[in-house]
Amino acid sequence: MACSLNPTTELNPALLPLDWLLGTWESDEPGQGCYPTIKPFRYTETLHFSHVGQPVINFMFNAFHAESKKPLHRESGFIRMQPGNNRVAFIIAQNSGLVEIEEGELTGHQLKLQTHALARISFAKKPHVQQILRIFQLRPDGRLEQTVSMATDNQPLTQHLHITYRPS
Ligand code: HEM
Repeated sequence: MACSLNPTTELNPALLPLDWLLGTWESDEPGQGCYPTIKPFRYTETLHFSHVGQPVINFMFNAFHAESKKPLHRESGFIRMQPGNNRVAFIIAQNSGLVEIEEGELTGHQLKLQTHALARISFAKKPHVQQILRIFQLRPDGRLEQTVSMATDNQPLTQHLHITYRPS
């Protein structure tokens, strides 16, 4: 028998506190990218959050250059919640060759995550990222906001990205 995903699969109750993330989100206006060592840039991004009934959210983030529309940064992975409390873990693979575990807490509709473990391919481009701080916030107007800061070999924790999305 062929395997298929049942579109009516019920959400695992462990994920109820994160149900507001589920679905597809499109940047409503270009996001702002910056860092002290690079030229500021604008980008668009689509986020997909889905589930298959497990206590796990599957995600894919695909970013594009706002003007040239060329694919840029991509991430995919899984989100888990610790049963019985508000601890959340993101298990992430990035197209740059970085793999990362971010952990943090859910407070209402705000998710604040920091690097818990990080590894990269042996020939990853320099400077290497040393730490990431990421905040997702569902705003009262129904838009989702993501802010990412990072520290590298030669810069302290500094903002790299800010973007808002609308449900798609
Ligand atoms: C540059 C990391 C997400 C676009 C960089 C640099 C690092 C980095 C380490 C080099 C900084 C330097 O040269 O000092 C990350 C990490 C991300 C992330 C860890 C996710 C957690 C994104 C996203 C975009 C993006 C979503 C959207 C398009 C760029 C661009 C540059 C850059 C355009 C400058 C050119 C380049 O070095 O490729 N990023 N980035 N990044 N990032 Fe990101």
